[in-house]
This record gives sequence, C-alpha cells and structure tokens, in this order.
Amino acid sequence: MSATVRNSKSPLIRTALPGPKAKKVLAEDKIYVSPSYTRAYPLVAKRGRGAIVEDVDGNRFLDFSAGIAVVSTGHCHPKVVRAIQKQASELIHMSGTDFYYPGLSELARKLSEITPGKGTKRVYFGNSGTEAIEAAMKLARIYTGRDKFIAFFNCFHGRTMGSLSLTASRAVQRRGFSPLIPGVTHIPYADCYRCAYNLKPQDCGMYCARIIEERLFRTTVPADEVAAIFVEPIQGEGGYIVPPREFLLELRRICDEYGILLVADEVQSGMGRTGKMWACDHFGLVPDIICIGKGIASGLPLSATVSRAEIMNWPPGAHASTFGGNPVAIAASLETISLLEGKYTAQAARTGDYLMKRLREWPQRHRLVGDIRGKGLMVGIELVKDRQTKQFAIDERNELIQLCFEKGLLILGCGTSTIRLMPPLVIGREEADIALGIIEECLTRIEKEGAATVPQLPTES
Ligand SMILES: Cc1ncc(COP(=O)(O)O)c(C=O)c1O
Repeated sequence: MSATVRNSKSPLIRTALPGPKAKKVLAEDKIYVSPSYTRAYPLVAKRGRGAIVEDVDGNRFLDFSAGIAVVSTGHCHPKVVRAIQKQASELIHMSGTDFYYPGLSELARKLSEITPGKGTKRVYFGNSGTEAIEAAMKLARIYTGRDKFIAFFNCFHGRTMGSLSLTASRAVQRRGFSPLIPGVTHIPYADCYRCAYNLKPQDCGMYCARIIEERLFRTTVPADEVAAIFVEPIQGEGGYIVPPREFLLELRRICDEYGILLVADEVQSGMGRTGKMWACDHFGLVPDIICIGKGIASGLPLSATVSRAEIMNWPPGAHASTFGGNPVAIAASLETISLLEGKYTAQAARTGDYLMKRLREWPQRHRLVGDIRGKGLMVGIELVKDRQTKQFAIDERNELIQLCFEKGLLILGCGTSTIRLMPPLVIGREEADIALGIIEECLTRIEKEGAATVPQLPTES
C-alpha cells in the first residue's frame, strides 16, 4: 500500500465494480466455496489499514463493517501486527487443553478484571462466538443441574447446533437442520420501536421481561427447570436494538429470584464497541456468564466465556478445545485490550456521540428514516416506507447498501430493513463525516428515484 493510500481516509474507486482481478476471484469462489455465505456485494479485499480496505484492483473502501464488528483496533494496527509477529516467531501453538503457557493465564486474569462483577472469574477460551455460547450452555447446565433455556426472538447467538437452538433471527438459518436441542423457549425482545405487545415504554412495566415470570413460569416453563436466560444486552444481527435499562435489570431480578443464570452475549456488543468496554456497563448489568468474541483479538480467531469462579467449576475433561486460546490470538488480544483501554474505547464513545448527533436530524430530513439507535460505534438506521405504519423498506435498505458500496463505503444490513454502522473503533469525525455524506447522498437518490427490487440475501451475522 503506497503512503498516499495509507494516509488517506477517503474511498477511491478506480474501476468498474467488480474490477477485472476481483471477477477472477469471484468466478473461482463460485465453484469452490460454500454457497451458504451471504455476500451482499462483490468486495474482494487485498489489504487493509485502519478503516481503509483496498481491493485486488486497487480500489479503496472506507470500512464501516470492520469485518462484522471484528477489527476493533482497525485493520492491521501496527502494534497488533508486531505482537502477532513476535509471538509467531516464538510459539504458534501448544494447546491450552493439555499444556500451560503464560499468555493463557495472563489474558484470563485480564478478562477476569475487566468484565462486570467483582471477585475472581474464570475463563474458557474458544475460537469463535458460537463456541463461547456453546460453552456457556454446557456450563449453565452442569452448574444448575437444569436443562432449559430462555432466549429472545431476533437474537443471534451462532450457528452450531446448541447456539443455533438459541438463535431466532432468520428461518433460513434453521430450515433443514432440525432437530435442534429441545427445551429452548423464545419470547420477544425489548424492541420499543416495534413493541410486540403494543405497549409504551413509559408505562409498560417491562412486560417483555415480566412475561417470563407471569406467563412462562406459570404455564409451560417451570422456573426450577431453567438453567439460563441468554440475552444480547444490545441486539446485533436482529437490528441493533438498544433495550431499556429496566428490561435487563428485570431479567437480572428474575434470574436472582429463581436461581437461573443470566448469560450476556457480548460477542458483537463487547470490546469497546459501544463506547464502554461492555454494553452491560451502560446498564449497570452484572451477568453470571459473559460471552466474548469478534473484536477480542482484532481479527484473529478467539473467544472467551467468563464467569464467577464458583460457577466455572467443572471437572477436567468436561469441556475443552485444541485451538481455543491459541498463543498468537492471545498476543493479539492482550495488545487489543491495551489499545482499547488506552484510547480507542473512549474514542468510540466520542465519535459515536458525534455520529448520533448528526443522525438524530435525519428523520426530519429523510422520509425513509424511521429510527436511529445505538451506542458508541454500534449504530443502526432503520428504513421504513412510512413512519406511521412503519412498513419495512427492504428494497430501499438493500439498494442503499449497494449504492454505498459503489461509492466506496462498506456497510452491512441487520434486522429486516436496518443498516448497521460498526466501523473500527479507530475512526474519528473525518471518517464519520465521509461515511454519513455517502449514505446521505445515496439515500437522497433512492428517495427521489425509488429503489429497484434488489434481490439480496440478508447479511449476517
Ligand atoms: C451476538 C452474537 N453472538 C454470537 C455470534 C456468533 O459468532 P461467530 O460467528 O464468531 O460464531 C455472533 C456473530 O455474529 C453474534 O453477533
């Protein structure tokens, strides 16, 4: 990457998209790669630095997707790269399952210190978000001696059989894969923009949480059979939905009262993304188990399941993974956490506030904008055809994503007709202005010209 490319914060599109080299990759990909992936547009990435990604044809994109909320410290942060290189030259793999190495306990101690709640916590390491959830499910069962779970519609927790049983995001993710694990009950999430019960947050008394006690426990789900409630403290793939604080605290109360574990899935919302290290910190929520992934190692595969030591007290052999907690991923994670604590979490809060301030005016200016929501750099813009009926503007959302791509901005969708902004946490006002400028230009065009029906798979996850 040349110095000018490295220093520039703006996108630059030089070829038709996809360009000639990208077309070759796409052709090979079509033959050999699993068609289950959901690519919204043909970006063929070659290199990245900060919030800029260059494709194989030399086009430059501003990345407001961060590899699905993963490259928290930006692409190839020099300090993270150095930490990876140093570790790779010393020890690449050993397996924490059967051997010891210093990084494993060092990162576990660090996570114990920075996750919500006092006292010593223990950490199980995996390689992906779904593994963090699987570990939490098994831990909750073995600790409580109970087998049932409660989860929320539109939440996404992963795609392996256990986590998929909790995931209730899109039918395509489940179709053809039954039977999943039994004993999972789903209820509506606290989505105040589209309340499932047609109530208003001022006087609903958090019925969406109380229904667990008032309806489920009395009818279909005996409380003393429930091992855990799984919740995303801010819903990710389901639409970037920020629940009221009282909803989460009511879940906490119910769990305490009935001996149920509260599991916070912070795979997407954690690692500084919301302007605090954990989304839970915005609400004063202390879960019993917290699941972490995505941004934890700035792009290397790593996940963690963290709980109080007394809960994570399973016997040797109960759960493990050959690769989980790989030394190179751990080195990247320790450096990532140091960068987040030093600078980038606070920067995400500041840039997020700035983004929000600008976006809050959009519903007045743009007839398609129904709702703006989020915290820090986890921001959702929901498009609707009509603000009264709130009819989903699906084609418009899909077209917006395409048009932004053509102008060099990488964004992804979530929910039914929402776009999500989840840039690397290293961006500042300049990148925020560039991105909002592109989105607004494309949105205005769609509002004037309408949207073609864009057959696009919902991007995940
Ligand atoms: C909240 C949440 N939990 C779990 C997962 C699963 O993570 P992974 O894709 O790394 O398995 C995701 C992925 O998007 C997620 O957003």
